[in-house]
Amino acid sequence: MKGIVLAGGSGSRLYPITQVYSKQLALIYDKPLIYYPLSVLMLAEIKDVLIISNEETIPLYQKLFGDGSHLGMNIQYKLQPAPNGIAESFILGKEFIGDDSVTLVLGDNIFFGDLEFLYKAVKDNKEGATIFGYRVTDPERYGIVQFDKSGRVLSIEEKPKLPKSNYAVPGIYIYDNEVVKISENLTPSARGELEITDVNNVYLNKGSLKVEIIGRGVAWLDTGTPQALLQASNFFGVIEERQGLKVACVEEIAFAKNFISETEFEKLINSIPKCAYRSYLEKVLADYKGN
Ligand code: DAU
Repeated sequence: MKGIVLAGGSGSRLYPITQVYSKQLALIYDKPLIYYPLSVLMLAEIKDVLIISNEETIPLYQKLFGDGSHLGMNIQYKLQPAPNGIAESFILGKEFIGDDSVTLVLGDNIFFGDLEFLYKAVKDNKEGATIFGYRVTDPERYGIVQFDKSGRVLSIEEKPKLPKSNYAVPGIYIYDNEVVKISENLTPSARGELEITDVNNVYLNKGSLKVEIIGRGVAWLDTGTPQALLQASNFFGVIEERQGLKVACVEEIAFAKNFISETEFEKLINSIPKCAYRSYLEKVLADYKGN
């Protein structure tokens, strides 16, 4: 299973800051936004990740993650010259995906809670596609699942004016290798984008789309507006302060998941300047060593 983080786009909703840096680098409490979706791929044990972004931002991600080897990962980068749609990820990522399956996560999507269902879905998705449904109060802003009375999925609609349900499709999608061909055969929508919803409808029409409903115990947070970013920061601030544990700390996850050894973890910690983030990692290591 390969992983893709789509982390480009124009980000005009967060103007003026997006003139100089990308939304996915915004600080969510104590770390950049992109750490949160990347950590979900890592927790699903995906080590090969392609980060797709624009010309200005790729060098910044490269500064953050390099080739990923310090995390025991293989992180590659691909330029998306213009925001031509989410489904373009699979065309741009064709070579990287090779003959494998792929999980795509949007670089501005945050998931928190017991995500065991997600890791299991990544492992189990041998054929077809698995996407998710999450109840929201503002369905006109998302891809929306339409169900019949028995709960069978009838269609997925992108940002419908008259939504047929409150179940939005979050920005994490698991596909078999067919997704490359399907994306190559798409035509751009009225807004000129290769729509991920069109990909999902192709799978639906050939009877190979699974939609799993995510319960209220999981938080899928929005990051589309300044208010939403502040709320997400507060949310993680409360949780991290209360537990003394960090969410989406990629270095900790790399160690916990055995992507790196104890010696490599120690070396990684020593490369971080003295700060609260480093002290946290030092404590993780000390706890592991039992002192
Ligand atoms: O967040 C989930 C929703 O994401 C889904 O429910 C929708 O079906 C899906 O279309 C998408 O809707 P958005 O309106 O949120 O998509 P947006 O254009 O904001 O793009 C999502 C992220 O992907 C954003 O951080 C920018 C990045 N992106 C987007 C496009 C279209 C790219 O990097 N390149 C692109 O070409």
